[in-house]
Amino acid sequence: MKKHILVTGGTGYIGSHMVVRLIEAGMEPIIFDNFSNSKPAVVDRIEMITGKRPTLVRGDIRDEKALEKLFADFPIDAVINFAGRKAVGESETDPLLYFSYNVEGTIVLLRVMKKFGVKEFVFSSSATVYGDPGYDEFDENTPLAPINNYGLSKWMIEEVLRKTFKAEPDWSIAILRYFNPVGAHESGLIGEDPNGIPNNLMPFISQVAVGRRASLKVFGNDYPTRDGTGARDYIHVQDLVEGHLDALRVLDGKPQLLTVNLGTGGNTTVLELVKAFEKASGKHIPYEICPRRAGDKAAYWTNPELAKKLLGWTAKRGIEKMCEDTWRWQQMNPEGYPD
Ligand code: WQD
Repeated sequence: MKKHILVTGGTGYIGSHMVVRLIEAGMEPIIFDNFSNSKPAVVDRIEMITGKRPTLVRGDIRDEKALEKLFADFPIDAVINFAGRKAVGESETDPLLYFSYNVEGTIVLLRVMKKFGVKEFVFSSSATVYGDPGYDEFDENTPLAPINNYGLSKWMIEEVLRKTFKAEPDWSIAILRYFNPVGAHESGLIGEDPNGIPNNLMPFISQVAVGRRASLKVFGNDYPTRDGTGARDYIHVQDLVEGHLDALRVLDGKPQLLTVNLGTGGNTTVLELVKAFEKASGKHIPYEICPRRAGDKAAYWTNPELAKKLLGWTAKRGIEKMCEDTWRWQQMNPEGYPD
């Protein structure tokens, strides 16, 4: 049965990789996106990869009327919600924007889903809901204590989902908490294309390698890690979307609420990632050691056991593949997507 899957934020970094994977799995993705952090060219690239042009409806998830029209026009079976803002720094300077986009938007979406009897929902959450528990290996029982407004917005949405499920246990919900998504589709046709100066490490490194940035600022080398620089659980975007597909298969419209961390269980420091990227690209990545970034933890990663148990999912791709695929995307698109 062709499953019609609404993918909000489906032209974004992770959303676009999800749309490709859904088409490959024989499903019918419908993209709903306001292009606030992506470009229409992404749809052309999805068509180039899959040979199929996905349905695209332009709109904002806070627009209840637009969503109602969407659900009236298409026989939607399930929803994967990627739409939202994700820059930690911006969430501190503009909290209202984050709570409006992320929290208000998801509530409007859930209200319209309920109105149309669509109760299968996959939510893109984040490891930032955990904050800093005082240890490095997280699991799904790690206390929820977000320390920035981005993480708080994700925690708030999770609470809305937990309370909704408690009141209406016929919902079929997967909360997926991402660690650090990186990498790109191996065609090099889609990848991470941040607006302006990248906040995140991997896109910054790849922009240095391609000559768009002069050098990398390493935010602190006095952490208690292997080489003093920050360590994270980087996960290939292709493994990440595979986890979403496995979640859809497990949900299958059956009443439940599951919450899993999506990470590899490994961790890589900043300087180890620089080295791996230099090997993958053959380029030198100049860097300078700078003061620590406010709000950063030294190191964190996840125990990936529960995702394996509940979804039958484990990450398959390592750091080398993450760097190779990122570099191919960046080389083919030195300035990112065309306008
Ligand atoms: C990784 C490491 C930095 C940039 C954030 C969000 C998380 C998710 C992923 C949205 C840290 C160091 C970074 C640079 C550096 N976002 N670094 N120089 O902070 O772990 O996670 O992005 O879903 O929710 O919290 O990722 O890539 O910003 O940083 O030295 O120019 O690289 O200090 O140790 P982070 P990051």
